Amino acid sequence: MGLPCLSEVFNFAAGPGVMPAAVLAQAQQEFLNWNGSGLSMLETPFTGEAFKAVLRQARDDLRALLNIPDNYHILFMHGGASAQFSLVPLNLLGGVDRADYVETGYWSRKNMREASRYCNVNIAASSSVTNFDRMPEAWRLDPDAAYCHITSNETANGVQFYDIPASGDLPLVADMTSDFLSRPLDVQRYGLIYAGAQKNIGPAGLTIVIVRDDLLGRAHPATPAVFNYQTQVEADSMLNTPLTYAVYLTGLVFRWIAETGGVTVMARNSEQRSARLYHAIDNSDGFYHCSVQPAYRSRMNVCFTLTHDALTPLFLSAAAAEGLLNLKGHPMAGGVRASLYNAMPETGVAALVNFMQHFTEEHRHHV
Ligand SMILES: Cc1ncc(COP(=O)(O)O)c(C=O)c1O
Repeated sequence: MGLPCLSEVFNFAAGPGVMPAAVLAQAQQEFLNWNGSGLSMLETPFTGEAFKAVLRQARDDLRALLNIPDNYHILFMHGGASAQFSLVPLNLLGGVDRADYVETGYWSRKNMREASRYCNVNIAASSSVTNFDRMPEAWRLDPDAAYCHITSNETANGVQFYDIPASGDLPLVADMTSDFLSRPLDVQRYGLIYAGAQKNIGPAGLTIVIVRDDLLGRAHPATPAVFNYQTQVEADSMLNTPLTYAVYLTGLVFRWIAETGGVTVMARNSEQRSARLYHAIDNSDGFYHCSVQPAYRSRMNVCFTLTHDALTPLFLSAAAAEGLLNLKGHPMAGGVRASLYNAMPETGVAALVNFMQHFTEEHRHHV
């Protein structure tokens, strides 16, 4: 048996997730001598014009990909999306003692726990009573809240917002870590958007923040300068050493998305990939089961279980032996999770569906 040869491997990890093969190849080719400089990007100082140009190009490309209006700033920050769980209240409360949160699964819950260290967390809507099998529809916003926070895609539960209710006068803040750049976005509906890079856009640690101009200047005085949106806007995201290599790689991914047709094509592809997999689950005569309501099923993280749960470890190891890697569900949810980020080729989903059908034929007698 042995390890499958590299060309047959598909990475379904929830994060860090699959990267575009063309981007990895370009990075490899440029690794020792970036842009004819004789230096690796890893050795290139961030204070020099060469790196600054890379960062600015990445920012301009992102602005073009999402049509981000001029009154929004784009930041490249450290700390991952989890740092934003604290940085959002630290930067946006502005003396207000409360914020609205929409509770939709594992990540929004973690977020709320962190935010409650800084303010009163009002649960404006929740789907916990239905075990997060859908997004909540009725919102009870607190008019005195500083902002309303949502998680656009719950990575661990496999639920995604398709129709986001209006947040009234409150700035809408969204953790888009696991569906950023997977579809077009009306940025003007949001006060602030953030996303850890390690799913759809690049290396872990780097976090993109898109913040509306009028929300700057409200930070708590104890906010560290490197985590203060305003000071980072003023410093062009270079108040301290930025994640230079991650910014460079992310810039290559932005280019790859643009050259592949932009976010509209990303959305079409992800809709097709996920529909194919959900179809296989729903037509397995109960061998596989997805508990998320069809209208809210994530196109990024397809979560499902085997009705005969004792077969799950065998399913995962047999899949890995076929080169279908990292399919284990989130520890909180169990089961199987296939993450289908932008760089997942259609052939990866086809291989997974094919494997699932064969596995069913072999093991149906257990059910
Ligand atoms: C929706 C969501 N938010 C936040 C995070 C945390 O990201 P990080 O590990 O970059 O802090 C994750 C990671 O999986 C996530 O899926």
